[in-house]
Amino acid sequence: MKKIIAGNWKMNLGIGDSIELASSLVSELTQSDTITVWIAPSYQALTAVNEITRNTPVEIGAQNVHWETAGAFTGEISIPMLKECGCTFALTGHSERRHVFGETGEIVEKRTRACLAADLTCVLCVGETLSERESQQTENVLEQQLSEILSGISRAEAEKLVIAYEPVWAIGTGKVASIEEITAAHRFIAELVVQHCGEVTVPILYGGSVSPDNFEAIAAVPHVSGALVGGASLSAEKFLKLVTIASNS
Ligand code: PGA
Repeated sequence: MKKIIAGNWKMNLGIGDSIELASSLVSELTQSDTITVWIAPSYQALTAVNEITRNTPVEIGAQNVHWETAGAFTGEISIPMLKECGCTFALTGHSERRHVFGETGEIVEKRTRACLAADLTCVLCVGETLSERESQQTENVLEQQLSEILSGISRAEAEKLVIAYEPVWAIGTGKVASIEEITAAHRFIAELVVQHCGEVTVPILYGGSVSPDNFEAIAAVPHVSGALVGGASLSAEKFLKLVTIASNS
């Protein structure tokens, strides 16, 4: 399976800065059989970044997506709109969407199912809060966030799915989950996938304060297929180092 390094630029970088960062990435990367490189710029920069990344090893995606194709959904963006900008994937259920903007499991499920049905790769983000971890609820939370979605999808749809395990307490905090915690969570998620979908390959990314300093050990963990990177994806140097580490792992 190809390793995936995905950058989530969040609400950072205007069009000019996005073009600059994307240009730095494409100038250093060559097509690879072992690694996939994704970036998720802000919506307004997607079209401009697509001009830079088209026909390069870098694919672009969105940080969220609505399940309807059009209509009265102020502030949302649809799958056809994203495809028109050149997006090949979208994130759903990012912890900031769940915990800062109150997106429920039901909403995340609708967004995820719409992507899979429309043949748009979906990076479904899951993960426990600190209090859930401290009260030994991590596996229950992961099961709750994943079971409903996994139980209803076809094999073809599962092939469009990527799961990102991102402990909420590790996102943007500089606190990385320990190798033991990552090992256990990824194993648990991989087992859930087999239980619900059979022997289909669903990549499982780790996310949460990933940097070139800690990623070598994380990339070597079984069932870790790559990383979803926030802060470090805003630096071409750091992001490219993560790509190199993934290619060598
Ligand atoms: P971080 O963000 O790498 O800055 O912790 C990860 C994410 O939110 O996907």
